[in-house]
Formats: sequence, C-alpha cells, structure tokens
Amino acid sequence: MSRSGLLCSLAVLALSLPADVSAYPGGTPGYVTDVAPFCAGCHSSADTAQLAGAPPQRVEAEQIANKHLARVREAREGSGYAKLSEAQRTDLIAGIQAIDAASQVKVIAPSKVAAGSIIEVTVEATGGGGPVVGLALVDANSRWQARPAAAAGWQVVGRPRVIGPDGADQTTFTDRRAAGLAPGISYVNIYGVKADPAKGRFDKFRVIWQLRAPSQAGSASLGAVFLFGTEKGAPFGSVETVRGRAPVGGGTAASGRVKFSDILSITVE
Ligand code: HEC
Repeated sequence: MSRSGLLCSLAVLALSLPADVSAYPGGTPGYVTDVAPFCAGCHSSADTAQLAGAPPQRVEAEQIANKHLARVREAREGSGYAKLSEAQRTDLIAGIQAIDAASQVKVIAPSKVAAGSIIEVTVEATGGGGPVVGLALVDANSRWQARPAAAAGWQVVGRPRVIGPDGADQTTFTDRRAAGLAPGISYVNIYGVKADPAKGRFDKFRVIWQLRAPSQAGSASLGAVFLFGTEKGAPFGSVETVRGRAPVGGGTAASGRVKFSDILSITVE
C-alpha cells in the first residue's frame, strides 16, 4: 500500500472507532500535568455560578439538565440512548441524578499563612460515577477562566499524595509523571472509584498537596475542581467496547461534570 493509501486507511479507521476512544471518559491518563477546567469542554456544569459573566443562553446550555439529561430523554436516533427503553432511560436518569447529588468536593487549608512558607492543603471529595475521577487545585470557580493554582502564587512542592477510596496511598497517576520533570502537579486522576446510586453508596478519597505560599503579603484564592463521569456508575449507563467499559452516550457526550469547591481566600502575611 502506498504511504498516502495507508494514511487514508488509518484515518478511516480512526473515524470508525467508537466515540469513546477519541475522548477521555476514562480520565486523562496521558495528561500528567496541571489542567484548567475549560479543557473538559464536553462535560456539563454542576451550577450556573461557574459560568458567571457568560451570555445567559450559554450558561443555560452548559447545565446538566439541558446539556446532558435532555439528550438522554430525547434519545435521538443513532445515539446510545436510543438503544435503551424508556423505562431504562428513566432508571439511568435517576442513577445519574443520585450521583450528581452525592458528588461533593471541599478544600481544607489554613486561613492565614506566612509568605513563602510551605503549607499542607487537603482536597476531600465524595462521589463521581467512577472508575476514575479527577481533582485539581485552581484559583477560581470559573469553568472557562479558572487557572491552575500556580497562577495565584501557590507553587506545588513535590508530588501530590493521593489517598484512594480504599484508604491506601495511590501512586497510579503520579508515577506516570516523566522522570526528570518537576513532580509538583496540581491535577491528579484517582482510580478505583465505585458508585452504587441505588444503595446510596459513594466512595470518598482525598489528595494532599504541599504548597509554597505566595511570596507577597495580601490574600490569595485557592479552590478545587472535581471532574467526574456519571453514566458508567448508573444503571444502563455503560457499554462494553474493545477498549473496556464506556459511557452509553459515548465519549463525546455530556455525561462528564465540572464541579467546584468553595473558593477560599487565604491571608498571606
Ligand atoms: C470529547 C469530550 C470530552 C472532553 C473534551 C473531555 N472529556 Fe472528560 N469525560 C468525557 C465523558 C463523556 C466522560 C464521562 C464518562 C461517564 O459518564 O461515565 C468524561 C469523564 C471524565 C473523567 C472521569 C473518568 C471516568 O472514568 O468517567 C475525568 C477525570 C475527565 N473526564 C477529565 C477530563 C479532563 C481533565 C479533560 C480535559 C483535558 C476532559 N475530561 C475533557 C468527555 C470528555
């Protein structure tokens, strides 16, 4: 086969793969770096506050009810949702809503810190549909404008410590950081997360970061963003593919979430 013929067949192959392969419904195992939540363009927004300043129609369009659940109900022909019965879609939606209601994230940090000192910050979260979730430190609860925490002066010192749902330290993600690169990253994936919306059972996990406080006195903001999926943890929400379990809506659907913690304003003196 000629080189161009080969490239062409590869392109066709890529187009014919299930949608989940082209997106990140298993988390982002390859992106072992800081993230900003705008990257999760397909995900739905858990509230309107995170889109403050955007045109009202865009704010509405990003909400869970409009961007995700409406698509499940519509079950447009050719979509994964169309393969489910109406009763199954009702169960799927109830499961998704239970996951959304249970999913929480909060940041625990000192309210006052010395400029340039090293502090410990813990992000605690519950829920997500699993099997993977993502947590990152950011400077604002703004879906399209939040920056990684470093932009507000918080320098990540060393690799974050991930404590998985089983209570044990988990280095699955942080071990993927290439040797030779600074290990201090403000985003991690957490693995082994399970949800049982019918029984109301959701996992808890946390990440502990060592941060060097900003060098100038004043105040600095710090919060967390929780990126998670819903369908794979809900009834009728997953399908088996050659690459494993995928969300029934496919990899480009809106079943992912962007949810922020409260944003702390920390005094630096
Ligand atoms: C092409 C659409 C798309 C984009 C872009 C996208 N995601 Fe997702 N992501 C999804 C879908 C769909 C799910 C939900 C899977 C589910 O509902 O079970 C998901 C789920 C996740 C999860 C949870 C993993 C799991 O097992 O469900 C994480 C973590 C995540 N995304 C992180 C990110 C990050 C970080 C970015 C930006 C680099 C990003 N996503 C961009 C579609 C996307």
